[in-house]
Amino acid sequence: MSISNEEFFKKVVAHCKEYGFVFPSSEIYDGLSAVYDYGSRGIPLKNNLRQYWWQSMTRVHKNIVGIDAAIFMHPRVWKASGHVDGFSDPMIDNKDSKKRYRADQLIEDYIDKQDAKIQKEVEKASMRFGDSFDEKKYRETNPRVLEYQAKIDRAASVLKEGLENDNLKMIKDFIVEQNIVCPISGTCNWTDIRQFNLMYSTQMNATDGGEDALFLRPETAQGIFVNFLNVQKTARMKIPFGIAQTGKAFRNEIVARQFIMRMKEFEQMEMQFFVRPGTEIEWYNQWKESRMKWHLAMGIKPEHYRFHEHDKLAHYANAAVDIEYQFPFGFKELEGIHSRTDFDLSRHQEFSGKKIKYHDPELNESYTPYVIETSIGLDRLFLMTMCENLKDETLDNGETRTVLCVHPSLAPVKAAIMPLVNKDGLPELADEIYKKLHLDFDCFIEEKDSIGKRYRRQDAIGTPFCITVDHESLNDNAVTVRDRDTMEQKRVAIAELHPLISSKVNMNILLSKLD
Ligand code: GAP
Repeated sequence: MSISNEEFFKKVVAHCKEYGFVFPSSEIYDGLSAVYDYGSRGIPLKNNLRQYWWQSMTRVHKNIVGIDAAIFMHPRVWKASGHVDGFSDPMIDNKDSKKRYRADQLIEDYIDKQDAKIQKEVEKASMRFGDSFDEKKYRETNPRVLEYQAKIDRAASVLKEGLENDNLKMIKDFIVEQNIVCPISGTCNWTDIRQFNLMYSTQMNATDGGEDALFLRPETAQGIFVNFLNVQKTARMKIPFGIAQTGKAFRNEIVARQFIMRMKEFEQMEMQFFVRPGTEIEWYNQWKESRMKWHLAMGIKPEHYRFHEHDKLAHYANAAVDIEYQFPFGFKELEGIHSRTDFDLSRHQEFSGKKIKYHDPELNESYTPYVIETSIGLDRLFLMTMCENLKDETLDNGETRTVLCVHPSLAPVKAAIMPLVNKDGLPELADEIYKKLHLDFDCFIEEKDSIGKRYRRQDAIGTPFCITVDHESLNDNAVTVRDRDTMEQKRVAIAELHPLISSKVNMNILLSKLD
């Protein structure tokens, strides 16, 4: 029986909690809105995703190096970057429910609804006309589809114009005119729209405010920009080259939504690639391609991804695209690739009064490099991994299993070692096998319950190999290895376990697809 997208998403969230992937923060105090903790299964999966990204940047590319800048930065950094003046969301309150929403998201949801209506019309027509159905023509001519499409176009243009010209009244008028209601109260009784800055502030010393006021970084990228010359000189990098960084970022997301999709404290993995002015669009296209390759290497279905080119460019960008993933709640941004021109380096030069130029030995010329940025949220990537890979399967014998078909290189546990019974020397042999494997692979000794139940528990967390130690193992020095995906079982000599596991879970399996 298939379940709705909404039910599936609820299942993902419940699964994350039940199997120790992700918990609400401070849960015994009823949690903290949009803040989450990773559990014992979540953290190795998150670490593996981070490692895959990190190695794909710093090992696969000989011209990318890493840094780890502090979360606290000089307050002027955020003035220079434009975050103090411009990093805000347009918020609107419903006077009846007292709930606050992002006005742009209300309109985006409205667009999604019109889009879903078009999709429904197309599906109905396709069933009606069968093989002779010409979808393109139908979309271009059917009056109902055209009506929905016109609504989408108008909503998108109001949003674009309203945001670009800071005309918040125009956006509110559209919300009221289209009777876009609050999902809680069902009314259209809205306040005016106001801009809210998303940065959290604290202070450096005991005194409040003023010069001591600090911001928690809302993106990791600025730590790279301010270190550009330090890294370029000490690592002796020549343009084109990149600097990669992973780390926490903080945003006061007033509207917490969709589990770890939109968090107040989250982790970013960002890479700034510094290039000669005039070559940036070529590099932008290369990074678009290379980042998509990275995603597909994990075995994610290509149709679950799409590029979304930005119509509205940030003031510092001359090209920008999102890689969107089809989450159960629709296609949403997973990663951004931006051609940021020389905006950031120039602004830091201006605000710090320090010269930030690169001397190009080939051109014998100094210039401010242009930058291509790739930026992905680790938590969103984690959510994508769960949504893509969590499956309910019906087996040949009619039983069902829940399995996390995550790529073996990313799986939180690589091998579960299972003594058939807890006596007769089998736990001791299981321990010996554990000792042979655990320094290279995350292993787990599974002792409780029937083997069938133990398999189900390991399937649910995505363990690629289950290794059963039985009485025969004491004589033949071999064990039964069961494969997560095929569920096939075969006898394997204990001495062969290490190469067998390595052949499937080594991170290089993923990385070699990128070369
Ligand atoms: N330096 C560029 C930058 O920060 P962004 O589009 O604001 O760009 C990049 O963020 C990525 O960070 C997003 O594609 C998303 O994956 C992740 N991200 C942004 N805000 C987030 C949030 N509140 N919670 C979780 N992930 C977030």
